[in-house]
Amino acid sequence: MSDYNEFLDEVLISEEQLQTRIRQLGAEISRDYRDQDLLLICVLRGGVLFLADLMRQINVPLSIDFMAVSSYGAGSRQSKGQVRITLDLTTSIEGRSVLLVEDIIDSGHTIASVLEMLSLRRPSSLRVCVLLDKADRREVVVPIHYRGFTIPNKFVFGYGLDLDEYHRNLPFVGVLRPDKASELDQAG
Ligand code: IMP
Ligand code: MG
Repeated sequence: MSDYNEFLDEVLISEEQLQTRIRQLGAEISRDYRDQDLLLICVLRGGVLFLADLMRQINVPLSIDFMAVSSYGAGSRQSKGQVRITLDLTTSIEGRSVLLVEDIIDSGHTIASVLEMLSLRRPSSLRVCVLLDKADRREVVVPIHYRGFTIPNKFVFGYGLDLDEYHRNLPFVGVLRPDKASELDQAG
């Protein structure tokens, strides 16, 4: 995998913009979850940077857990319908105030499916906090309680989001150069 500059069209959201917005979200969540048993659930792998920064901006007691899902027979840039849990939570969520922390919602199928599965486990509440919302691409209705940024329909990477598993470590969100998209698709 080459240097990220080769793939970068433009920086969409800078490190400073991300951190400013995350501070605001943290303050909002802290207010809303006072006196509740807050459990943040991070959907791996894209959500890890967001979770790590967000939880440091929340000032009420909380715990965290992780899960990973993969979509049935879909490529990395297209997801349709049901997903399957590839890594499950280690804690019970029954009776807890669950906040799902996600990197990006595109069609909405992934998160809709995760919400459906988690709601069967009887949390006392279940909400979604997403950093990036590609609203124009939505195919199913997803309730979003906390939203970082609404972004245009462009493929983005960095700050947790990958280009074929690389470049998740970038501190900003960048747009993939359109001429590079097909190259990556073929690489699988
Ligand atoms: P959805 O099920 O269509 O909402 O897809 C959500 C998942 O697709 C995310 O969790 C990401 O893994 C992936 N995804 C969607 N758009 C992008 C993008 O622009 N960059 C990187 N990953 C993306
Ligand atoms: Mg991905």
